[in-house]
Amino acid sequence: MTRAGTSTAVITGVGAYLPPNTVSNHELVERLDTTDEWIRSRTGIARRHVISPGTTTADLAVEAGRRALKSAGHDRVDAVVLATTTPDRPCPATAPEVASRLGLTGVAAFDVSAVCTGFLYGLATGAGLIAAGTAQHVLVIAAEAFTTLIDPEDRATAPIFGDGAGAVVLRAGRADEPGAVGPTLLGSDGENADLVAVGTSGGARRADGGPLPREERYFRMAGRQVFRHAVTRMSVVCADALTAADWTAADVDLLVAHQANARITSAVADFVGIPPERRASNIELVGNTAGASVPVLLADAAADGTLRPGHRVLLTAFGGGLTWGAATLVWPDVSPVL
Ligand code: COA
Repeated sequence: MTRAGTSTAVITGVGAYLPPNTVSNHELVERLDTTDEWIRSRTGIARRHVISPGTTTADLAVEAGRRALKSAGHDRVDAVVLATTTPDRPCPATAPEVASRLGLTGVAAFDVSAVCTGFLYGLATGAGLIAAGTAQHVLVIAAEAFTTLIDPEDRATAPIFGDGAGAVVLRAGRADEPGAVGPTLLGSDGENADLVAVGTSGGARRADGGPLPREERYFRMAGRQVFRHAVTRMSVVCADALTAADWTAADVDLLVAHQANARITSAVADFVGIPPERRASNIELVGNTAGASVPVLLADAAADGTLRPGHRVLLTAFGGGLTWGAATLVWPDVSPVL
């Protein structure tokens, strides 16, 4: 994925934004047939952040992007890549609006759609723009107003998901610099697209011309099957990413895994051989923010000192598509902005 010379993407800033409104398990219990104990023990989640009416993905993305740029110490990039499952509109992409609101009118700006793997796909895309010489600096944002897809009456999904955004700034650099993005592995399996899906409210339904039934309006997930795929795919891609980087599990100072479910992260880390003290987690207070979860966790872990300069980091994610990915990097000396 990376090349010698100055064509390697190097992280120079990280930021995150979570909307201020939070919903606790206790609030969910008032309207759903569930318990705080069930949600905590089956997912590890106690609370999630939820947007207020009127806030959109673009708002979250602009705030996270602004923070990442502040962390990087500059306000110019050549490209903005926005990973999101919840673009403000089906057309156009949300990234150009985000870029303009960040004072970046004129730069390349486009969306990437890979659900919970969105950040890793966006990171690989940003690194690819740098490797190709198309851009010297790239802002990669992952932003999700994911709760807008959730059926408030579905106890299988409502407790899990939250809203938020995270971002990193990349610049062209060398593979041996701290912050250099190492081998990045990505995969997909469209044969299982229906396991994690929002009905057919997009192009497929519009092509039919039919009305949109309620059950097709919301996100549905075959939880148990998705759980199994998530563990298997992330375990294998993590092992492959370590091999590609010529690392072993013992070399990893911190696993930063998509915060889907605390039990999924544990199973993946156990498989790869990373002990509990080397696993980053913020799922208890953030929930599953889909594509945003990896950069939000990077920012949180860097802010609380769990992630320190020089740490060797293994990133991984899994999501609808199905999609998955993993990457390695050595954490740079950057101050996160949250
Ligand atoms: N409260 C109480 N009971 C619940 C519940 C809730 N919120 N949600 C489901 N249940 C019940 C089920 O109805 C089922 O009851 P039954 O045994 O009587 O049929 C039981 O709990 C077990 O359900 P199951 O779906 O097997 O639970 P689980 O242990 O697999 O946990 C998930 C459910 C969704 C938390 C889990 O499957 C999961 O995390 N899946 C992957 C999610 C993921 O990775 N998403 C990201 C991909 S984009």
